[in-house]
Amino acid sequence: MRIAATIKEARAFIAELRTERAGAESGNVVGFVPTMGYLHEGHASLLRRARQECGIVVLSIFVNPIQFGPNEDLDRYPRSEEADLALAEREGVDVVFLPSVEEMYPQERRTTVTVTGLTDVLCGASRPGHFDGVATVVSKLFHIIKPDRAFFGAKDAQQVAVLQQMVVDLNMDVEIVPCPIVREADGLALSSRNVYLSAEQRSEALVLSRSLREATARIESSTDVTPRQIVESVRQAIEVSPLAEIDYVQMLSFPALAPLKHEEDLSELRKSGASVILALAVKFGSTRLIDNAIISLK
Ligand code: PAF
Repeated sequence: MRIAATIKEARAFIAELRTERAGAESGNVVGFVPTMGYLHEGHASLLRRARQECGIVVLSIFVNPIQFGPNEDLDRYPRSEEADLALAEREGVDVVFLPSVEEMYPQERRTTVTVTGLTDVLCGASRPGHFDGVATVVSKLFHIIKPDRAFFGAKDAQQVAVLQQMVVDLNMDVEIVPCPIVREADGLALSSRNVYLSAEQRSEALVLSRSLREATARIESSTDVTPRQIVESVRQAIEVSPLAEIDYVQMLSFPALAPLKHEEDLSELRKSGASVILALAVKFGSTRLIDNAIISLK
């Protein structure tokens, strides 16, 4: 496994591997997993998928300052370079790109990638500027790594929708591959931020996956339930927890993230075989957790 601290090194390592592996089947297909480090089983599942499908696997670890708001957790975002490199090695990564902030942003930045519309809702509404930071850094990383496929977890479903729109709008020659949410055995969606939770907060946070599961079952089994009833039932379940502070619970179409008619049942959407997303963000103390369920109405 090669570790690149600079853009020049990353490009050289990847170019070398592309030439070396050109003959083999999928040998010079580059699979890319961009991360902010503090890697867990969710990241490992993305790396495994990339390893299965691509001859060259590149991982980036970069805590991107421009996607954090002024009062967010940039300064305390968990980091663990040694453990991350050990996990990367175990998962058979070929190149780890581990740049510094100065390497990625060497001068005052005057270019921002903004995806409109999709970023006005959900986390985009609660974290102004967040998706500009994500789209900007991911397009920089795509220019550096030049991946054929890039793998992202569906826990950040809005991020996936935003990046899918970006690559189409900007004719980027990369396939965005969404991968399923990985959960602990008790249902908690894996997140680097789970480490902030106290034992009590962690136990109460189980209400998130539980309420999404129950709502999904209700949507799948009931023909006349409305989006408003679903959102209300999830809110009520979460509000039982004294430690939970709801940022949002929303149900939208997916991947367009367009509003639904909240008073109407879902039968019109069922006819068109559309998908919906039921998404939530909830704070436990200062830790903000997100989770979602994408439900096909076919
Ligand atoms: O999902 C993340 O970890 C980040 O938003 C990403 C895609 C690595 C961009 O910094």
